[in-house]
Amino acid sequence: MNVAETTRTFLGFFQDRGHQVIAGGSLVPPGDGPVLFTAAGMHPLTPYLDGGPPHPQGRRLTGLQRCLRTTDLGEVGDERHLTVFQMLGSWSLGDYGGPQSLRWGFELITEILGTKRDRLYATVFGGDGQLGPDLAAQRTWDELGVPVELTTDDNWWSNGPTGPCGPDSELFAWTGDGPPQGRPTTDERWMELWNHVTMRFRRHGDGRLEPLPRPNVDTGMGLERLLMITQGVPSVFGTDVFRPWMTALPALWQPDDLSLRLIADHLRASIVIIGDGVRPSSTGRGYVLRRLLRRVLTMLWRTDRSRTLGELPAGLLEHTLAQFGQDGDPELIRGILGDEERRFAELMTRGHKVLARFGRGWQPTSQDLSYLHQTHGLPPDLVTELLGEPGETRSRVLGR
Ligand code: SER
Repeated sequence: MNVAETTRTFLGFFQDRGHQVIAGGSLVPPGDGPVLFTAAGMHPLTPYLDGGPPHPQGRRLTGLQRCLRTTDLGEVGDERHLTVFQMLGSWSLGDYGGPQSLRWGFELITEILGTKRDRLYATVFGGDGQLGPDLAAQRTWDELGVPVELTTDDNWWSNGPTGPCGPDSELFAWTGDGPPQGRPTTDERWMELWNHVTMRFRRHGDGRLEPLPRPNVDTGMGLERLLMITQGVPSVFGTDVFRPWMTALPALWQPDDLSLRLIADHLRASIVIIGDGVRPSSTGRGYVLRRLLRRVLTMLWRTDRSRTLGELPAGLLEHTLAQFGQDGDPELIRGILGDEERRFAELMTRGHKVLARFGRGWQPTSQDLSYLHQTHGLPPDLVTELLGEPGETRSRVLGR
């Protein structure tokens, strides 16, 4: 099944069970809230999960939401973490409970999508000083024949320090070559696939938990991870959503395998972020975008300084926008990428010239860093990067 068929199957499964499909929203949450980017499928539903008004589409919902997690940036490049990804979700707003959600999840993953039961493991909230273990979830998995591991911190989901939260149960799939071994917390070849949160509390600023008037269920599963399992490939970068990237990039640059993954991830993320109206800048969302692009350019320039982002095939940009349900203009996005590339190239050239004055092995103090930033427009992280570069890379970046 390709990505479109898999998405249709997921949404159709829940539609057959009385759920309405909600439209995915922007990566940029509405209003002026504290959240920079939508990081979970449930973010746009927060008021309805938090005891607010009834949702206009009813109490059973399903959907696909683009998400961005800066918290995962350090892990991007491994088999399963991405900066921007899509999350399939199902929600019960005060309707059915956690056990029903787990049963449907199991049915979809095994009977419809074909994963063998012996390649699954579940984790369940094991209780803490305040609450007992989630016995209903544990009993459900027992009945379904899925082994269970109990944890505390890993099985509690919250939307932030305050707001709706609750115990969760995560379904893990085995991604190793041989037969499954160990447990989710002892063998990282168990990959977290689908999180089912029994969202039945509201956390207050003083840490107090208040039961919600209507308990909810919020589930989320990374689409790219699901494809990894259903398409039987060892990493998200081997799924059909990344195929055009893995063909187009090596035709232009020849990065090593890890850099290729990072470049594909960051460029794809940048296109989607720009598609949602963000522009590179020195603060907030624009700065996240700028950092992603600068990281890409630094890696690309190590392999071939003569190529530019303007050479990215239009089809690749179109594919990415379509994948994320965006109707952005590929040419406009290519122009923004090109402008940022030129700006960064100029900054690098200026940076090298300024830093050359200080000689080899120079260690700037925080005062030096602030001088370089204020007087020469060189941000501290760029200075650190430039000083850390081997001499050969510097010459290549400068085109000498
Ligand atoms: N909110 C939970 C998560 O993001 C389940 O959707 O994992």
